[in-house]
Amino acid sequence: MKDIKSYVNQHKDRFIDELIELLKIPSVSADSAFSKDILKTADAVKNALEKAGCDKVEICKTPGNPIVYGEKIIDKKLPTILVYGHYDVQPADPIDLWDSPPFEPVIKKTKIHPDGAIFARGACDDKGQVYMHVKALEYMVSTNQLPCNVKFMIEGEEEIGSVSLAWFVERNQEKLANDIILISDTGMISNSQPSITTGLRGLSYVEVEVTGPNRDLHSGLYGGAVANPINILAKMIASLHDENNRVTIPGFYDKVADLSSAERAEMAKAPFSLDDYKKALDIEEVYGEKGYTTNERNSIRPTLDVNGIWGGYIGEGAKTVIAGKAHAKISMRLVPNQDWQEITELFKNHFEKIAPKSVKVKVKPHHGGQGYVTPIDTIGYKAASKAYQESFGVAPIPQRSGGSIPIVALFEKELKSKTILMGFGLDSDAIHSPNEHFGVFNYLKGIETIPLFYKYFVEMSK
Ligand code: BES
Ligand code: MN
Ligand code: MN
Repeated sequence: MKDIKSYVNQHKDRFIDELIELLKIPSVSADSAFSKDILKTADAVKNALEKAGCDKVEICKTPGNPIVYGEKIIDKKLPTILVYGHYDVQPADPIDLWDSPPFEPVIKKTKIHPDGAIFARGACDDKGQVYMHVKALEYMVSTNQLPCNVKFMIEGEEEIGSVSLAWFVERNQEKLANDIILISDTGMISNSQPSITTGLRGLSYVEVEVTGPNRDLHSGLYGGAVANPINILAKMIASLHDENNRVTIPGFYDKVADLSSAERAEMAKAPFSLDDYKKALDIEEVYGEKGYTTNERNSIRPTLDVNGIWGGYIGEGAKTVIAGKAHAKISMRLVPNQDWQEITELFKNHFEKIAPKSVKVKVKPHHGGQGYVTPIDTIGYKAASKAYQESFGVAPIPQRSGGSIPIVALFEKELKSKTILMGFGLDSDAIHSPNEHFGVFNYLKGIETIPLFYKYFVEMSK
């Protein structure tokens, strides 16, 4: 594309400033205290899309957070790209672990980001990556090089399960009709080795409650004579993995799509240093399912993890008490062919079954979604590959990710189109963690790569 590099270079300071403004609004979807900020952010995204050149932009009401929809239709006969992303962010907690306030963005250099990185909640996941698309559109429209139609659908509930988006997609098939869905909400291997995400894991998220006696008890007077729900919960959770770190829920692995040894060998070619991995996390050894490598464990294998556990006394000092209840939040990452609702059922039945009679157990399913694998022999993949090749000067590697974007499988079902995951973040960008950041290099490279995708996708569609 004509002058894309020089356009980005000329406008980069403004691109960064605009993103910083967007990052200042704390659009946390999990906490209703931020619902005004959610609306403010939706407004800001709407304005940005209008300014960038969309002809029609609207804030679509849903039973939950609004969806920002924008479009620029230049010719109905040309292909249509649907860009999806999310403007909501994860809670910033624990806030004291941030080196600078999560909603007061700062640019700092890091070892991995010598050109600087923008530190703020949502910088990489996903406001920064959404904004790359807005600026790519600005470039294409302002230089008269938009080669096809484009639709934007930016939602505000991705981090809490995209419930309203599913509702919206089911009701707006025609409006959302497209030839390909383009998403930047994933990562790549490194800044010198780009990769295209070809798979996402599914998810089943549940909350469990174990109830013992009808009230908190003196741990001396009653201790040893009644079931302690926290002890029991810990034991039940521990039993969910065997000595090979495999999940013990009957049927859990039944539908798992196994990879051929050729596919596994192909995966193993991706550059990866176990030493660097351990060093970056300050761990002596990795841990996981026997018989699989680290990269396999975190992408092609299903998992079960406790995300939070609570109960009893956690205040200062010591209080001798047996709590009446114990709780845990548990997520299961799933792989293709595992059905999240079926897995939720299997979990529930098993967890209720392994509980001793001395306690009562409740399992409450939260959200979930199916995994996704993208084929690599499609025009979409080839166009994305060519775009990365041109902007990075290196051919990208296909790589399956361990994260989840459950709505992608639903897109395919409802809109009958494939998704291309062009992510520009790095695993080390600390998404969902304190000190989330997004490399300035990554942000600008994204803006540079996206128009090339449009160009090659349209060329190859002819
Ligand atoms: N953008 C992430 C998912 C992601 C990140 C995929 C990096 C691949 C690489 C997304 O915002 C996210 O956090 N998804 C949630 C699931 C959702 C249902 C809460 C996740 O993966 O935990
Ligand atoms: Mn995301
Ligand atoms: Mn996220």
